[in-house]
Amino acid sequence: MELTTQEQAMLNGEEGYAVRKSMEILVVLGEIFEAKNLIDVSSVQVAGVSYHNLGDAGLEFLASLAKDGKTKVLTTLNPAGMDLENWRQLGISEEFAKKQNLVIDAFQRMGILVSCTCTPYLIGNLPLYGEHVAWSESSAVTFANAVLGARTNREGGPSALAAAFVGKTPCYGLHLNENRAPDIHVKIETKLGQLSDWGALGYALGKKAENKIPYITGIKTAQLDELKNFCASTVTYGTKPLFYIKNITPDAEQQTIPKETITIEDCDIKNAYDNINDNIDDIDFICVGCPHCSIKEIQEIADLIQNKKVKQGVELWVATSRTVKQLADKRGYTTTIENAGGKFACDTCMAVAPLKGRFNALATTSAKGCFYSRQNLMKTKMGSMKKCIEAAVSGKWNN
Ligand code: F3S
Repeated sequence: MELTTQEQAMLNGEEGYAVRKSMEILVVLGEIFEAKNLIDVSSVQVAGVSYHNLGDAGLEFLASLAKDGKTKVLTTLNPAGMDLENWRQLGISEEFAKKQNLVIDAFQRMGILVSCTCTPYLIGNLPLYGEHVAWSESSAVTFANAVLGARTNREGGPSALAAAFVGKTPCYGLHLNENRAPDIHVKIETKLGQLSDWGALGYALGKKAENKIPYITGIKTAQLDELKNFCASTVTYGTKPLFYIKNITPDAEQQTIPKETITIEDCDIKNAYDNINDNIDDIDFICVGCPHCSIKEIQEIADLIQNKKVKQGVELWVATSRTVKQLADKRGYTTTIENAGGKFACDTCMAVAPLKGRFNALATTSAKGCFYSRQNLMKTKMGSMKKCIEAAVSGKWNN
């Protein structure tokens, strides 16, 4: 890979240890993927924030970088392992909280915005069309590429952090036009009603499109929350982190519709629900906000739960960014949800919090949430926001 004089100087350690280490990571990555050069990125989103996943070795690595390194571009964080303020209320241990706070301190010393959300685009880390960024969270990467028309590969935590210290990333993969062409035409011949149908669609597409870039026809309209849910699901279950939807997403009209065609019908959506939903009735954990809730979703939750009570022995978590929660505070939604017994889980989510063994059965609107909760040994149910809130109140899933 060709380096400029300034990049070579960074690699030689002229800007300190963190920048040198970062350049080493970027050069190795660039060579593996045969990048010709580095390109500037306008923002970074770093995953690998939960102490649950990092452990002591990860914490030590971050602390060593934080000693002398400051990030060069706007950098935000993926969810951490706990709500940074209300961790006690969510049942997190003192010991875990202490370690998680050390991780956050290290990121803060690097100059990173401690935002801890998988929806950075809802809180001001919003790249424009055509901008190159280096993001890690798969749902956000897909949203950036497909919905915003920005350009990013699916970075690992270390490579994203390296891009933040250098302000650049190797130019390969989805940064290049030739790798952004759709491979498969997907005809949608089913109606998408509730939010979770978009998760089911992502599941069906991921299974059928097998690591290809879909060009989707047959969808007439899409809301931001639906696309957010779909981005999370489709990449979790198998497609590349980019898709086009005719008449809806950027660049769709400039693409040639691929010859290879598949169809998604009612039976595929049903099959997705059948596979995601376990055969259970009792629910003890409801978590909505995967990806993190928008203010519109929180408003819906508040409307649905007003004058009701979460059943004893059941927990309802509303996962969102702290910034969106502050809006919810101002609008009174927080009070309504908390008065009903619901809890906000800011800065964190059901996949990265240490939840293994705490709950038996999850209800959620998110196909991705179900995928990760099964790894935490939970049974899962996916359905509409209304059904999830009903489950919070009754402790039962209404089939
Ligand atoms: Fe976000 Fe966690 Fe879901 S990172 S997309 S809420 S699994």
